[in-house]
Amino acid sequence: MGVYFLLFTVGLCWAQYNPNTQPGRTSIVHLFEWRWADIALECERYLAPSGFGGVQISPPNENLVIADPSRPWWERYQPVSYKLCTRSGNETEFRDMVTRCNNVGVYVYADAVVNHMCGGNGGAGNHSACGSYFNAEKEDFPAVPYSAWDFNDAKCKSRSGDIEDYQDVPQVRNCRLVNLLDLALEKNYVRSKIAEYMNYLIDIGVAGFRIDAAKHMWPGDVKAILDELKDLNTKWFSAGAKPFIYQEVIDLGGEPITGSQYFGNGRVTEFKYGAKLGTVIRKWNGEKMAYLKNWGEGWGFVPSDRALVFVDNHDNQRGHGAGGASILTFWDARLYKMAVGFMLAHPYGFTRVMSSYRWPRYFENGADVNDWVGPPSNSDGSTKSVTINADTTCGNDWVCEHRWRQIRNMVVFRNVVDGQPFSNWWDNGSNQVAFGRGNRGFIVFNNDDW
Ligand SMILES: *[C@@H]1O[C@H](CO)[C@@H](O)[C@H](O)[C@H]1NC(C)=O
Ligand SMILES: *[C@@H]1O[C@H](CO)[C@@H](O)[C@H](O)[C@H]1NC(C)=O
Ligand SMILES: *[C@@H]1O[C@H](CO)[C@@H](O)[C@H](O)[C@H]1NC(C)=O
Repeated sequence: MGVYFLLFTVGLCWAQYNPNTQPGRTSIVHLFEWRWADIALECERYLAPSGFGGVQISPPNENLVIADPSRPWWERYQPVSYKLCTRSGNETEFRDMVTRCNNVGVYVYADAVVNHMCGGNGGAGNHSACGSYFNAEKEDFPAVPYSAWDFNDAKCKSRSGDIEDYQDVPQVRNCRLVNLLDLALEKNYVRSKIAEYMNYLIDIGVAGFRIDAAKHMWPGDVKAILDELKDLNTKWFSAGAKPFIYQEVIDLGGEPITGSQYFGNGRVTEFKYGAKLGTVIRKWNGEKMAYLKNWGEGWGFVPSDRALVFVDNHDNQRGHGAGGASILTFWDARLYKMAVGFMLAHPYGFTRVMSSYRWPRYFENGADVNDWVGPPSNSDGSTKSVTINADTTCGNDWVCEHRWRQIRNMVVFRNVVDGQPFSNWWDNGSNQVAFGRGNRGFIVFNNDDW
């Protein structure tokens, strides 16, 4: 009896930390703003043959369509309903993508935007991705439905109603993040509508969720929603498999909200990882690669089995979110390849590769004034398809870092050395380092000037 109970408990505890990728597939890629039709093709023609484990997709639910500025990428983070209908595609296309990716063993992780709906200044009418009516000022979203009762205004104690002070925990979790209407997640009704949406995706076949803005929700409220989730679809996953959960908690230190407060729900995004690795590879602040010998928990990161790691993400690659200037991106291609190579060679954390689009980056007074620009699009606002050039790179301004030879090959390396220990570290006291992964792999970096 005792033994059974123990096994049962361990099973429950570990489920949501498991990415559910197929054995020997150890990384996922974020195909930021891609259309579902293109993702389906990419799963079949590239990701499966290259050993990728899965894809993080942009939020699949209906969002506010923003005209000023024109169709920014962040409109996808302003929900209007839970209909599966966005610039990436409609529900038919979504189902087709999930089925086709799953059938080749590349699983889909949905970006779940459930902390809030659209901004309070979103207006009224049906300027939404699929024509659903809403009234932001009245907090009326009949397509869910949510009404003013389902939002946190009464609970928020800041003067403006927005988050003003990140040292004030109730404010960070009860007030509006940049004016986004903050859902009252302590209400059973709101929890059940969110769980219904997520369960709908689970039934279609998704393998897990990135929980957007988790830092702005109480960990217990997130848990109450996750407790309502079903097991994964047994057409592709073993009976009893739970959705993989990774929560966006931006914790660079110095704030009362920490990543560890969310371990009970799943993994957390370790934002210190890219910020520190960028500083080291850029050789800022006297940092050097030799110091990476104790990379991981030794650098104050969350435990490896609680971490989702990345060199850059869709926010901090354009100065949003957190991390600062040190973040490496495709714009610094040589250093970026070294950083991603190091991440994929090193055993710490579950790894996510970024795949971006190019935008007309333009700095004024140190800030990119075009940090809002949405995906490559046609004059009618529809997203451009991802074209593939003869040399296997992408066209139409899709960067496709995951197709860069060095990055794709290191995804394979990580699969090959999976489970092997970090071993035989060597450094020259400067920026030449090397290490092994058991007897399966060895990698050498030279970031010195000779
Ligand atoms: C979904 O989009 C496809 C491609 O644009 C289109 O052919 C199809 O009719 C749409 N389906 C629905 C139900 O709107
Ligand atoms: C918005 O609503 C108007 C009036 O009901 C309707 O004519 C129009 O087709 C709707 N737009 C969309 C995109 O559904
Ligand atoms: C690092 O390696 C290079 C070449 O092997 C060597 O010249 C240098 O002295 C080493 N040490 C430091 C501290 O740069």
